[in-house]
Amino acid sequence: MALVTGSSHGIGAAIATLFAHEGANVVIHGRDAAAMSAVTAGIRQAGGSAMQVAADVTRLADLEAMRVQVEHELGPVDLLVANAGGSPTRPGPLEQTSEEDWRAAVDGNLTATFLTIKCFLPGMKERKSGGIITMSSAAARRPHPGSPVPYAAAKAAIQILTQDLAAQVGPDGIRVNCLAPETILTERNKQQIPAAQQQALAGMHPLRRLGTPEDVARAALYLASDNAAWITGIVLDVAGGAVMV
Ligand SMILES: NC(=O)c1ccc[n+]([C@@H]2O[C@H](COP(=O)([O-])OP(=O)(O)OC[C@H]3O[C@@H](n4cnc5c(N)ncnc54)[C@H](OP(=O)(O)O)[C@@H]3O)[C@@H](O)[C@H]2O)c1
Repeated sequence: MALVTGSSHGIGAAIATLFAHEGANVVIHGRDAAAMSAVTAGIRQAGGSAMQVAADVTRLADLEAMRVQVEHELGPVDLLVANAGGSPTRPGPLEQTSEEDWRAAVDGNLTATFLTIKCFLPGMKERKSGGIITMSSAAARRPHPGSPVPYAAAKAAIQILTQDLAAQVGPDGIRVNCLAPETILTERNKQQIPAAQQQALAGMHPLRRLGTPEDVARAALYLASDNAAWITGIVLDVAGGAVMV
């Protein structure tokens, strides 16, 4: 069974939908009940199996309640995709970043990832198996003057969290890997990034297009699968060649 946090929209919805298509029981998670229902209904209509649950990933009590509900209804989570997050701020000069915006970026990405994993890791260790996928960003893969710094810094921290954890829990049969997408054409980005800018961004990718949520979902499926049985502690750039490190 797979739980994909932040699967009410965007990349998470595509990951959960692909996992369900491949036969996994999936848990759709978010805060927007209508959006979760739409994703759940789409999966069920296609013959897949899904339940939905709401929780704020910045609150440990919410996450614990979610874990109890999910385990009660579907059993243990074998695969955890800690995808929920995003940048609460636009890029700007560091000294103009408010303390509140800084804390929101760290809370909503780094702390949320830590808390999510903290909830589900003990069960995986007990069962001596499991897979965890975290979500970084191209913003954390190389410096750029136009980067949203609090978000980029929080995502970079998720990468070392992923790798330290992979080193800790490898002996428990648990693999932990991280995805780092460049700009992905989610519904939100389609609306927020003007067409001319989308075209300019695409031109910066050797593969000459922007990524889709499905591109990221296929990378997640690979890391989750037995095809990646010997892979742990990596940060996989899903970036059309725009990031090469
Ligand atoms: N899109 C990109 O270009 C891109 C590039 C690199 C990395 N990423 C990363 O990929 C992940 C998904 O991004 P996306 O573009 O698909 O974002 P999105 O379309 O904005 O969706 C974000 C998802 O996360 C959930 N979420 C956010 N904060 C939450 C919180 N505190 N508690 C519970 N749920 C929360 C949202 O739930 P509700 O909407 O239901 O509240 C939603 O399902 C993020 O970690 C993001 O940083 C995205």
